[in-house]
Amino acid sequence: MRTLAERLAGLKLVVVTGKGGTGKSVLATALGHRLAAAGRSVLLLEVDPRENLHQLCGVAPSGGEIVEVASNGGGPLYLQNLKPAEVVDWVVERQVKVGAIVRRVLASPVYKRFVEGAPGVTEIAVLGHVQRLVRGALHRAPAVDTVVLDAPATGHGIYLLTAARLFGETVGHGPFAELALEVADFVGSPEKTGMVVVTLAEEMPVQEAIELLEAFEEKLGRRPEMVVSNALYPELGEGGANVADELWRRRREVNEKELERLERHWRGPHLRLPLLALDDGPRLVRALAEELAPGLEKTVDAE
Ligand SMILES: Nc1ncnc2c1ncn2[C@@H]1O[C@H](COP(=O)(O)OP(=O)(O)O)[C@@H](O)[C@H]1O
Ligand SMILES: [Mg+2]
Repeated sequence: MRTLAERLAGLKLVVVTGKGGTGKSVLATALGHRLAAAGRSVLLLEVDPRENLHQLCGVAPSGGEIVEVASNGGGPLYLQNLKPAEVVDWVVERQVKVGAIVRRVLASPVYKRFVEGAPGVTEIAVLGHVQRLVRGALHRAPAVDTVVLDAPATGHGIYLLTAARLFGETVGHGPFAELALEVADFVGSPEKTGMVVVTLAEEMPVQEAIELLEAFEEKLGRRPEMVVSNALYPELGEGGANVADELWRRRREVNEKELERLERHWRGPHLRLPLLALDDGPRLVRALAEELAPGLEKTVDAE
């Protein structure tokens, strides 16, 4: 039997998706801390040009480099803010091995237009980068067991996971098509890549989460490893007649109703995280990493 934590720790890539503002970045960071604490070498990967994860880790911006984040014992935790354009260039370098020609290709307007215009190219390059990281094939990079990817937004999350197969099937040949098919196998393998869906227990985010679950099923024939309902209003005890309590109670009721609705659509692992009165990024991350622990210890499948 395997726990959810073991299942996640066995993956090479964990893609954290969900509606913007639901706590994807915080959750991805907290999960990264947990996997590292369990002894894995973990890299938190962010593709958003607005760097954000470094604040949650309490370190300086990565600026494209891989930086080590202090973790509490266990394995190392790294952080990288990836510039997609740079990894796209790498694909060209890999295929066209003659330096002078590489430089000419990278500088050519035709290439620029291809990279900026062709759907899926960025996604394939990002996933190609992940693959190289976990294979230890990246020059001067540390050994990484698991990459936790903070995916930009709901639509992007699905697109990230489907783009490679689409591209590989439609384009058929050439440097990108070859990489695309390789990457499609990687993200298509349930033993290598997993997804985590983050939501708030509120109407719009739950609706989007349900649609995301359906899209995973339909487009990938896959289910995510877990759903996380974040920032729940903690349950209030009896009594408390003042206005703040009343408002609180109503927010909690919305949470209850939406959690129920979500569970009618999702019977798999569902972890719940409380809304915490913490502003400081690293403290919030540590507190939520603690909150994740019991849920992650539940058994999910027979090995
Ligand atoms: N459980 C929580 N308790 C309190 N604040 C939270 C919690 N989860 C997220 N936040 C806060 O909510 C905001 C959005 O979180 P973030 O991870 O940036 O969302 P996303 O990446 O999905 O856009 C941040 O200010 C974050 O600190
Ligand atoms: Mg974010």
